[in-house]
Amino acid sequence: MHPLLNIGVRAARRAGDLVVRHINQLDAIKVDSKGRHDFVSEVDRMAEDDIIQTVRRSYPDHAFLAEESGASGAGNDAEYVWIIDPLDGTTNFLHGFPVFCISIAVMHRGRIEHGVIYDPLRQELFTASRGTGATVDGRRMRVSETRTLEKSLLGTGYPYKPGSEWIDAYMGMLKAAMQETSGVRRPGAAALDLAYVAAGRLDGFWEIGLNIWDIAAGTLMIQECGGIVTDLDGRDGWQQSGNLVAGNPKVHEALLQLIEPHLTPELRR
Ligand code: IPD
Ligand code: CA
Repeated sequence: MHPLLNIGVRAARRAGDLVVRHINQLDAIKVDSKGRHDFVSEVDRMAEDDIIQTVRRSYPDHAFLAEESGASGAGNDAEYVWIIDPLDGTTNFLHGFPVFCISIAVMHRGRIEHGVIYDPLRQELFTASRGTGATVDGRRMRVSETRTLEKSLLGTGYPYKPGSEWIDAYMGMLKAAMQETSGVRRPGAAALDLAYVAAGRLDGFWEIGLNIWDIAAGTLMIQECGGIVTDLDGRDGWQQSGNLVAGNPKVHEALLQLIEPHLTPELRR
């Protein structure tokens, strides 16, 4: 395992243990609201601090881009940036709904090179390094071989923030997906959804308005497992827009076609 990935795994496991230790004390956890439907708990913050400390001990010169603390460490020109979602699925966690994970990626000169996603309840570890494939608990992963939407199970996330301009467009996409696939799931932790696409448990996924820390590790995993990741219109701007369509090559193509009639000019970009 690459040394950077090794540290990422150590940090993700430690943070996962910390998160799980708090699951039976949900009533005592301090929660702040970042906006309506958008929460952060002291557990998110503690997990993030712990991850950053773990990485810093080995790589004091690296920079960080983390969900709760933003950019820190070396300046903008840092060669290495660790992109961290310390608790993806915070709303699930706060309700005791058992779907959440830790997501950590390492970017080198602007390119995502390593990714770790850890599900601390199942103790399932997903890892990827560019050019060397991706694994779940040490076993190699591949995207599914499903060829049609009709036989596909898709994952998605809702544009749940109030005032979202995409609700109507999204509802059109969701309706079409409900009618044309085997099923659509909204588990509530985008990073884990992407790991499941990489592992072939979901055939495809789409969501509008994700952040880089939700997707950095999972998208690398999908690409390393033979899958495709694009923007909603099939192009490459997803790291900037956070609008994502992913899947095995056949399902990805079919999903783009399903989404296309519902794109607004802003979503087409
Ligand atoms: C959220 C989850 C959710 C997705 C949202 C994300 P958070 O992350 O990944 O599935 O639909 O877009 O913001 O806030 O729980 O870390
Ligand atoms: Ca997240």
